[in-house]
Amino acid sequence: MCGIIGFTGKLEAQDILLDGLEKLEYRGYDSAGIAYFKENKGKISTRKTAGKVKDLRAICDDNESTCGIGHTRWATHGGVTNANAHPHKCGNVALIHNGIIENYHELVSSYDLGKDLISETDTEVAAALFNKLYDGENPIEAIKKAVPLFKGSFAFCIMFKNKPGIIYAVRNVSPMVAATCEEGSFIASDLTAFIQYSKKYFIVPEYTILTMTESGITLTDLDGTNVEPEFLEVNWDITAAQKDGYPTFMLKEINEQPDAITRTITPRIADGLPDFSADNIPDSLFENCRDITIVACGTAMYAGMVGKSLMQEMLGIPVTVAIASEFRYEHPVITEDSLVIVVSQSGETIDTLEALRLAKTRTQKTLAIVNVKGSTIARESNYVLYTHAGPEIAVASTKAYTVQTAAFYLIACKLGLIQDKISKDEAHEFIGNLQNVSNNITEVLKLSENVERLTKRMLNASNTFFIGRGIDYTLSMEGALKLKEISYIHAEAYAAGELKHGTIALISEGVPVIALATQSHVYSKVISNIREVKARGAYVILLSMDENITDSSICDTFISLPKVPDRFAIFEAVIILQMIAYFTSVGKGLNADQPRNLAKSVTVE
Ligand code: AGP
Repeated sequence: MCGIIGFTGKLEAQDILLDGLEKLEYRGYDSAGIAYFKENKGKISTRKTAGKVKDLRAICDDNESTCGIGHTRWATHGGVTNANAHPHKCGNVALIHNGIIENYHELVSSYDLGKDLISETDTEVAAALFNKLYDGENPIEAIKKAVPLFKGSFAFCIMFKNKPGIIYAVRNVSPMVAATCEEGSFIASDLTAFIQYSKKYFIVPEYTILTMTESGITLTDLDGTNVEPEFLEVNWDITAAQKDGYPTFMLKEINEQPDAITRTITPRIADGLPDFSADNIPDSLFENCRDITIVACGTAMYAGMVGKSLMQEMLGIPVTVAIASEFRYEHPVITEDSLVIVVSQSGETIDTLEALRLAKTRTQKTLAIVNVKGSTIARESNYVLYTHAGPEIAVASTKAYTVQTAAFYLIACKLGLIQDKISKDEAHEFIGNLQNVSNNITEVLKLSENVERLTKRMLNASNTFFIGRGIDYTLSMEGALKLKEISYIHAEAYAAGELKHGTIALISEGVPVIALATQSHVYSKVISNIREVKARGAYVILLSMDENITDSSICDTFISLPKVPDRFAIFEAVIILQMIAYFTSVGKGLNADQPRNLAKSVTVE
């Protein structure tokens, strides 16, 4: 997934583009580039390079342009090279692209584009096609001809050499938002790129051609009919997308979790009970649910696994968690009485979006748990429950996980009441415990120095294990992912009771094992499993709500968590796991916010 930005107006474009790209860098950061109308005349100059936006800034000289486009890349087609960096130019056209043109090879042969190409990218093929179809006078006609030929996802910003000051754009699936203000007009992959200029924006409708000039923006559909933008108001300010004194976005977002949870649950609690009326989610959605399927990717999926564990226990109905990229191919059993819950922080993950689209062919009971307002998944699901975590910039998801999990707790309680599986008194107690979670997390955040110290033991590890039973096992999956994606240490989550059936062979002297033992009904069994790995030389870090465990046959380091009902321990335990991953990454001198090979939201399949 990549970051794109365009500006045309009264201000100098270069700094707007470069500053905007820095804010979009979390979307992809292996190469970057800008293109602009040199001196606002009929010549398009480009500056692009493999590397980060700071490397691009170093090769940008001051220019007088007030119109340009910029791109920060997460490579899909072709390696990380200067030639493959965007923008791509061909003849009259310069463009940037977020997405994948699946039929680019066919287009090369069908339109004889090969002679014009110098890169390995699908994007350059698109530039060559727009150029081929451009009659030299009417860019919109060229776009109308080209767009139906593309298969796949795209968000294009396009400039035509003899149309100085004008940027055209068109999208399918890949996100793009736009705004206009007195300084000029902006377009970008998401709001963070231009929020300091305008809090009023609109989502560029799919297959609508946007024409952006200094004086404003017009939209026309492929038939040439004018389209009116539907304006939205952003619900957070620029500081939410800045580090606010923290060394990294990830550490800031770890510490934002108490507030994020409070903002997410409070509007959904009325008289101490779950209430989704403000979200236009009727109780009827939860009636007659014979089964529930949760579909997501990565951390969002692991939050879904917590939801499964909780709902299956509380409701006594089948709850399935599906990996979104597998869902479409595993013949899912979805009927009109199935509730399908899709979970996505960005609301743009294409695997999850396509799974939602399949689910909607079988049931109208689709509910999205999404953090980005107006995102594609939010707009396409039958119902949406927004989490209010604020923008999550760090690639490694932290506050999104806890607010998604909190959303599942609200849904589980609502389902329990509607299906008469819990009493009102039990629901009141449950919600009361949920309302205490923010304070519990605040207490655990005070352990950060202890956690930082214990991670010194992790820095040279090459393999680690996270083990637990029940909801602790689901949590161990999230802990393993966090460590892997930002410290590059291999980590495996394992059901504690399953280790002895083979994998324990991998336990040798000094192998770090992070053990979770917060669930009293399986506590003694987990302790036995921990003794098994300890006896084989593992270095055990144990998380539990016990007072204090000093028995060296159980663990080397013990982290005591505040005593809360078992079901709510996950919210405090995950904070420790997030901090273990974070301080290990930082201790290894790595970039915790922008780990290698990754991007914040994967909008390619
Ligand atoms: C988690 O830390 C990763 N960034 C990744 O697994 C992420 O959770 C996944 O790609 C899903 O993203 P989404 O929530 O935006 O759909």
